[in-house]
Amino acid sequence: MKGIILAAGAGTRLYPASLPISKILLPVYNKPMIYYPLSVLMQARIRDILIITNPEDNENFKRVLGDGHQWGLNLSYAVQHVKRGIADAFIIGKDFIGKERCALILGDNIFYGNGFENILKKSLQNKTGATVFAYEVSDPERFGVVAFDKKGKAISLDEKPRNPKSNFAVTGLYFYDNQVVKLAQRLQPSYRGELEITDLNRLYLQKGQLHVSRLDRGFAWLDTGTHETVLQASNFVHTMQINQGVEIACLEEIALEKGFISRSQLLTRLKKSPKNNYYDYLKEQLQRKK
Ligand code: G1P
Repeated sequence: MKGIILAAGAGTRLYPASLPISKILLPVYNKPMIYYPLSVLMQARIRDILIITNPEDNENFKRVLGDGHQWGLNLSYAVQHVKRGIADAFIIGKDFIGKERCALILGDNIFYGNGFENILKKSLQNKTGATVFAYEVSDPERFGVVAFDKKGKAISLDEKPRNPKSNFAVTGLYFYDNQVVKLAQRLQPSYRGELEITDLNRLYLQKGQLHVSRLDRGFAWLDTGTHETVLQASNFVHTMQINQGVEIACLEEIALEKGFISRSQLLTRLKKSPKNNYYDYLKEQLQRKK
């Protein structure tokens, strides 16, 4: 299974804060935003990852994340030259995906909750079709919306509908089988000139091949598209980390836990790291998990 992080948005809603650098590299509390979606792919054990950026920020992403070897990953980079929508990721990523299945996560999506790894594991067992994740929100008109029949079967998908048929937003994490490249190539641009991810998912729905996994209310899903939501996300991460004494989206910790890197690799890295809370936390984890 390959993974793509779409980090190409101009982030105009965050201007002027995102003028100097892509919004996906701005901090959410103590880490660049991209750490959070990257941690999700790592939790799904996806290590071969393509990061799609806008032309101006490609070098910045490479500088921050490199080739990923420090987390036992294989990161590569591509550029979206024209803002052609989310589903364009599969056209840009065609060669990268090859004959494999592919996950996509949007660079501004944060997922956090108990049992998430099991949810991911289960979803990865669906070898055919697509899997999307639905989350109940109070403002569904801001998102792709999925509605269900009485038996809980998904029956419709609409992108930012004026009159949403349900309160279930489709989150920015998607798993696809290899049909995705061909299906994305078939899409026509929407009224706003974009290849819509919702149109792609609707093709799977029409084939009877769309799995919808509902994330329950105890779970946190945050889309950090505005100043308010970035601040909310920062406050959320801060509160959880202080209360529970954990680091959310700590890539080194996940890499160690999953066996992507060894203890000695992490120790070597920590010797070269600056002294601060993040690296102190990692040193503590190494001591504890001896
Ligand atoms: C995009 C998708 C939308 C999805 C959302 C999740 O919207 O088009 O279907 O619900 O991501 O974050 P955007 O955030 O680009 O407006």
